[in-house]
Parts: sequence; structure tokens; C-alpha cells
Amino acid sequence: MSQREQNGNKDSGKKLGAAGVPVVAAVAVTVLVALFYPASESPVVIPKITDTEDDSAKRWYTNEQVAHGQKLFAQYCSGCHGENAAATPDWRKTDAAGNYPPPPLNGSAHTWHHPLSVLRETIRQGGVPMGGVMPGFADKLSAQEIDAVIAWFQSLWPDEVYQAWYRMEKESL
Ligand code: HEC
Repeated sequence: MSQREQNGNKDSGKKLGAAGVPVVAAVAVTVLVALFYPASESPVVIPKITDTEDDSAKRWYTNEQVAHGQKLFAQYCSGCHGENAAATPDWRKTDAAGNYPPPPLNGSAHTWHHPLSVLRETIRQGGVPMGGVMPGFADKLSAQEIDAVIAWFQSLWPDEVYQAWYRMEKESL
């Protein structure tokens, strides 16, 4: 084998190796994306909550999400939770069948005790899995729409309620 041929072989070997890296990386990324986002669901927007205490008064959502959520809430939720998410004032009292009424979501009841992940699941699955009566919205609202509805009712929360929720949310992550 001449010196030239040997060099040629070495070079082509190097080229192959280099081309293989991007292919492997691309496959790995595809597999990761598939694992995190099941095909039926588009990626969920992760709230931008940072770690500094000073940021606690900032909200994770945009004005666009709030405006979108307000429309969705009027369409899907206000029938039970009231137009301004203020129903039912007497939310601690069960009815004759032992069911709780729809609680206010405007920050006056205990909704702020739930991290975002739980709020999303409650809206997706409804209250039935937990012995309640609220219907689930998984087949009616996308992940983005559910986040918009949450953004809207959280926009009604006074800062001190939002901050209490925010601290609890951070601990739950
Ligand atoms: C048919 C009436 C009804 C509709 C429509 C409804 N809810 Fe509810 N919701 C309830 C009831 C009743 C509860 C209390 C738990 C239970 O019984 O399932 C509840 C509980 C909740 C909770 C838990 C609150 C907490 O403090 O624990 C959230 C969040 C919520 N609803 C959001 C929504 C959103 C958002 C919509 C619209 C997409 C909606 N609900 C539509 C009746 C309803």
C-alpha cells in the first residue's frame, strides 16, 4: 500500500466519524422530545419563575394569555364558577348529597394551595377522580388553553395571595 493510499483511507475514516456525530445527536434529541411530549399533546409552556425572592410579585403569564383565558373561562367555566370566578361564596358547605359547590377561583378560597401541576390536572381530569363532581376538560381544552385559563383566574389574585402561591409552587418544583 502506498503512503498516499494510506492517507486517503485515514481521511475517509475521519470524515465518516465526523458525519456520524450529528446523526446520533439528532436521534437523541428526537427521542428526548418524544419522551417529554406525547404525540397527542403540544409542548406546555413552562412558567418562567426564577429563584430570587424579589421576583415573587412578578407573574409567570403574559397579558395575551390572560385575555385568551378570560374568553375560555366565560365559555367553559363561568356557568359553575361564576362570571368573575367568585362563585360559590359559601364554598365550604356541602349540599344534601355531600358534594362541595364550585369554589371561587379568584383568590378568595383555597385554590392557591395547589401548584400549577395540580391545577392543570384538576382542569384536565375534573374532580371525579378525587370524589368531586367537576367535569374534566382534557378533550375540550389544549394544554395552552388550560394554562391561559389558569393565567386569567390567577390575574384576579391579590399580590399577597399570588406570593403565597408562588412560594408554595417553588417548593413543589
Ligand atoms: C359543572 C360545573 C363546573 C364546571 C363547568 C367547571 N367546574 Fe371547576 N369545579 C366544580 C366543582 C363542583 C369543584 C369542586 C371539586 C369537585 O366537586 O370536583 C370544582 C373545582 C375546581 C378547581 C379546584 C379548586 C380548588 O380550590 O381546589 C379548579 C382549579 C377548577 N374547578 C377550575 C375550573 C375551570 C378552569 C373550569 C373551566 C375550564 C371549570 N372548573 C369548570 C364545578 C365546575
